Amino acid sequence: MPEAGAGPDATAELIQRALSGVLDPEIRKPVTELDMIGGVEVSPEGHATVKVKLTIVGCPAADRIERDVHAAAASVPGVSAVTVDVSVMTPAERAALTEKLRGGRAARAQQFGPDSLTRVYAVTSGKGGVGKSTLTANLAVALAERGLRVGLVDADVHGFSIPGLLGLTDADGAAVRPTRVDDMILPPVAYGVKVISIGMFVDSSSAAVAWRGPMLHRTIQQFLGDVFFGDLDVLLLDLPPGTGDVAISVGQLLPQAEVLVITTPQPAAADVAERSGVVARQTGQRIVGVIENMAGLVQPDGSVLELFGSGGGAEVARRLSAGQEAPVPLLASVPLSVPLRTGGDTGAPIVVTDPQDPAAAAIRAVAAGLAVRPRDLPRRKLPLSTR
Ligand SMILES: Nc1ncnc2c1ncn2[C@@H]1O[C@H](COP(=O)(O)OP(=O)(O)O)[C@@H](O)[C@H]1O
Ligand SMILES: [Mg+2]
Repeated sequence: MPEAGAGPDATAELIQRALSGVLDPEIRKPVTELDMIGGVEVSPEGHATVKVKLTIVGCPAADRIERDVHAAAASVPGVSAVTVDVSVMTPAERAALTEKLRGGRAARAQQFGPDSLTRVYAVTSGKGGVGKSTLTANLAVALAERGLRVGLVDADVHGFSIPGLLGLTDADGAAVRPTRVDDMILPPVAYGVKVISIGMFVDSSSAAVAWRGPMLHRTIQQFLGDVFFGDLDVLLLDLPPGTGDVAISVGQLLPQAEVLVITTPQPAAADVAERSGVVARQTGQRIVGVIENMAGLVQPDGSVLELFGSGGGAEVARRLSAGQEAPVPLLASVPLSVPLRTGGDTGAPIVVTDPQDPAAAAIRAVAAGLAVRPRDLPRRKLPLSTR
């Protein structure tokens, strides 16, 4: 029975309030703000009926939303029973929602224009296999763990690996499919990170994506336009190795992007790593720093196994600093780590599963530094108060 003094209308009001704590797991906003609650009715006996309108039929988040709505309504004092009545939005309601989510931005328009407050970090390396994707995935998760709103674009269209690294795969190892609401794509979320990858659009994880420059450019453009990231503090891009078309597209589409250069300790790798930094600079991007990966591993007897030599990171930082006003720092030296590798293979990033591992600690330290970096003021207009 409803509490004394709290009639059905007051109880319905309390249920609405409780529902504002229920988030759509994909859009990550309260269902009440998404106009997904079609109405709340409470009978004199305290039986609540909540109408929920899902964005699309077969929405993968449906069960979760239904459960969370049920739990929220049931938690309200005076509610004796809850019925959740699930239906699907009409095309007009859906169009109104996508419009609202875009917040006035035209369909297909880029979300991270020059006035965006999102910091964009493009992660690059001279060559493949240096651990760029592994570090990017772990860095994204470490930033999200610090409470930042993080997006990750897997721009390595030929060698996408981010879905696997973050466990966004089905039992067969294929990347999960993003939900679409009309022409808006909702990025799947892993460990608090909104992720999009070409791997989510091809038929199998082994499918080769043999695309030429213009198509690559359009794909990156679509990722930045049609994928609903919402407000982000940080957007990370995992670029393909080398200095190719994608790096140049990113430079054009995201002129405010800053670059993290990944290299190994091998002195011979320094040349190629330096080149990737130089190309980034030519497209107007600033280099935030260098991360050396696969550095010496401390053995149980205390000796250090330097499988890939040493000094490569410092050398790349030194070369990229030449002639610059501010030196390019070596942000971290991430040691070889078996858990880092196995965590990647199983889709469980070690910054979560094994944060004390020396490699995880080094990555978390980079995240801590990036999380507090002040924004690059000279480059943005200072908002002037009109009051
Ligand atoms: N610090 C490390 N210690 C051990 N293995 C690593 C380390 N960094 C990356 N790896 C492994 O090296 C391989 C290549 O890494 P990946 O992130 O795919 O490189 P890239 O994106 O540069 O091609 C993967 O098998 C990964 O697990
Ligand atoms: Mg990679």
